[in-house]
This record gives sequence, C-alpha cells and structure tokens, in this order.
Amino acid sequence: MLTVGTAVIGSLQFGYNTGVINAPQKIIEAFYNQTWTDRHNENIPKTTMTTLWSLSVAIFSVGVIDMCFFLFYIMATPSFTLFNSLRNSMLMANVLAFIAAALMGFSKMGASWEMLISGRFVVGLYSGLSTGFVPMYVGEVAPTALRGALGTLHQLGIVIGILMAQIFGMDAIMGNATMWPFLLGFTFIPALLQCCLLPFCPESPRFLLIIRNEEDKAKAVLKKLRGMTDVSADMQEMKEESRQMMREKKVTIPELFRSPLYRQPIAIAIMLQLSQQLSGINAVFYYSTKIFEKAGVQQPVYATIGAGVVNTAFTVVSLFVVERAGRRSLHLLGLLGMAGSAVLMTIALALLEKYDWMSYMSIVAIFAFVAFFEIGPGPIPWFIVAELFSQGPRPSAFAVAGFSNWTANFIVGMCFQYVEELCGAYVFIIFTVFLLCFFVFTYFKVPETKGRTFDEISAGFRQAASGAEKHSPEELNYLGADSQL
Ligand code: GLC
Repeated sequence: MLTVGTAVIGSLQFGYNTGVINAPQKIIEAFYNQTWTDRHNENIPKTTMTTLWSLSVAIFSVGVIDMCFFLFYIMATPSFTLFNSLRNSMLMANVLAFIAAALMGFSKMGASWEMLISGRFVVGLYSGLSTGFVPMYVGEVAPTALRGALGTLHQLGIVIGILMAQIFGMDAIMGNATMWPFLLGFTFIPALLQCCLLPFCPESPRFLLIIRNEEDKAKAVLKKLRGMTDVSADMQEMKEESRQMMREKKVTIPELFRSPLYRQPIAIAIMLQLSQQLSGINAVFYYSTKIFEKAGVQQPVYATIGAGVVNTAFTVVSLFVVERAGRRSLHLLGLLGMAGSAVLMTIALALLEKYDWMSYMSIVAIFAFVAFFEIGPGPIPWFIVAELFSQGPRPSAFAVAGFSNWTANFIVGMCFQYVEELCGAYVFIIFTVFLLCFFVFTYFKVPETKGRTFDEISAGFRQAASGAEKHSPEELNYLGADSQL
C-alpha cells in the first residue's frame, strides 16, 4: 500500500491540475487584465483575453503530448539508464512539479501571466510522465490477482485530485483574489511528499529481473512486497516473461503497427484510450459549471462538486468489482450507461423551456454519465495497456496510448464550446454516437484480461496472429468472438 500509494501521488497531481483552473477563471482573468493594464495603460482586448485563457487551460494537454514521446524515448532506448529505474524516474520527474509550482505560485508576485502559462505547460509535462510511469510501475509491482484493483488506484488518485481542486477552488477556501497563487502553487506539497516517500519504495521487481538481470535483488523486493518468503510463483512468472522477452527484441513504434503480432493489441489500446476521451468526460470536467448554468441549475458550482463526489465514489466501486466482473464487461457496461445518460441529458436540455424540472433531470443525467464513466472507461484504459503488452513492446505501446489519449483530450477541450454553439441542446448526441461505436468495437475485439499473467495475455495475441486453427478451446474463450470468427 505504501508503494502504490506513493506512486499514485503522481496521479493526484495530474487530476488536481486538470481541475484547478475551472473555478478561479474569473479571478485569474482579472489578474491578467491588471498586468496588461499596468504594461500597456489600457484594458486587455476581449479577444486577447479569450486567447490567453484558452492557452492557459489547453497548454496543459500540449505539454503531456510532448511528454509521451519523451517517455517513450527514455524507456525504449539505452538512455533509460539516465534515470536508472522506473522508481527513480518518478522521483526525478518531481523536479518538473517543483518548477511548475514555483512558476504558477509566484506569477502574481512577478506580475506575469507568462509565468503562469509556462507553469501550466511544465505541469503538463509532469502529468504526461505520471500517466506513463504510474500505471507501468503499479502494474509491475502488483500481484496478478490484484493488478486490476491496484491499477484502478491510478484513476482514484486522479479523481481525488480533481475533487480536491474543485473544493479548494471554492471562493471561501482558495478560489479568491488573494489566495489563488496558493491554489496553483499547491502542487508543491504532493511533490514534496512523494520525494520523501519514494526512497522507501522498492524498485520494480520485473525491472530488476528482466532489464537489470539482478535475480537476488528482485527476489528480495518481491518478498518485501508480498509479505511472504515463498515468492517462487511470482519469480517463475517473471522469468517466463523474461524468456519471452529474450525472444522478442525491443519494439519500436512503427514496428508496433507493422507486425501482425502487435497490430491487434495496439488497435485495442488506442481504441480504449479514445473511448475514454471521446466519451465526452472532459466536456463535463472542463465545462460542467457552464453546462449546469445553461440547464437552469441554481447553484452550478455545487452541482460541479457533486459531479466530483460521484466521480470519486464510483471509482471506488470499480476498484472493488474490477477483479470480479472483469475489464471487458465493466467497460461495455460503462459505455452503454454513458450513452443512455447522454441521451437523457439531451432530452433534459431540449425540453428545458417546456418543463422547469428538466434542470434536475440534467443533474441526474450528468451524475449518471460520470458514474458509468468510472465503472469502466475511466480506470480500465489506463492499466490495460500494461496487460496487453509484454516488456519488449510495452514502452512504445504506452507512448502511443498516451499520445492518443491526450490528443483526444485536447480536441474535446478545445472544440466542445464551439460545437456546443453549433448544436445547442443536441451536443451530447455526438458523444452518444461515439460511445455506441466504441461499445461495438469493445464487444467484438477486446479480450478479457482478468486473472491472466502478462505472458498468457501476449501468448493469446501471438496465437491469434498465427491463425485460428491452433487455438485451444480455452484460448478461444479468452480471445473472444473476434478470433472465433
Ligand atoms: C480519466 C481521464 C481524464 C479525466 C478523468 C476524469 O483519468 O484520463 O482525462 O479528466 O478521468 O475522472
């Protein structure tokens, strides 16, 4: 718990910085206007303000897109030894969090919006690294039977971060003209905490055995992690993965797409990431206050915080059911439930003028939308990438998956308001269509990975690539409808 808990402080940082710029928008805009007036002796033009604010929000996701490629670079090339290990990489990444906290926290004192925007960019770089390192590290230290549950903790860290930011951003706490630099600079505290705790966490045993070939150390770490002396089953499984890796060389990104061996898992990884973002979840987390306002809700800020609470509660639900129900069924249930909620939301918005109570219906719809998201499409895409690939292609797969996720995140963040202007009450129909397409894809293409070792999972794909006639009935069952066809 200490090891995983310390790692997911990185996830918390990512969530916090996703949610933090929502509430204090007006106050920080006033600061932008003030600095502009001091420099130019005139009020900031409206279009410049819009551009500056959009940049402040969106530059966060540009940062993470860049970082995914950097992540790939350091993990997939010998310069990975630059940071020596996955744990040390997480430790070093905090340098970025400190820089970002300083830039944002002192931007008011320095009368500089440039500092704030640069800080958002740097914290985006940090978050990009976190969304790569954390699921990978957690996946590698977790015992097979708990990999899904512990993997879900990454998402739990994110949603707690979002909720914290929503609460701290209230006017009475830090979302006011004097305290907002602390609200943004708060990132410093989790970074410090993680730096103090990480040295007590072990190195990934898989990394020690497979990459560094240090069997004794790997065994010692495993004993500590599992709390028992007999770790032969885990060692056996890791050695099997290692043997497999000897046979496959390091896989580059183009090879992922070219090789028939990886084509199916990489398509699944990308589609699952896209299903997470194009579901429209961040339309809610970036713009919920405005959505609720338009839907006639009296206290939109509280409704937004309510969405944050539901979001957190259902991530906990997912944590407990993911090992029992399996990834595939939860993802399917989540996508279908979100599609239903999106339809409900459309009805609520379309009938708002006729019936006042439709504003309550919109709250129910958004809460249900968020709840179904966290049942499956929220947590599962993050950790399933580690499950779909063995050590050889895993870093490249993480880079591609992260890049897909963040590109889609950026697109939704940037475009939602424009599309909403065009489509009005019917904007959620677009997400419904996406959700149904992803449902069909998941139904036909995504295998169940629950309770299988990494090696068994990649063996399944190898078999699929080399022809259906070689499958045993058990493998056919695992590979799902697609390979049976
Ligand atoms: C997932 C998404 C993130 C979103 C969050 C909401 O972690 O990747 O973009 O903001 O869920 O809970």
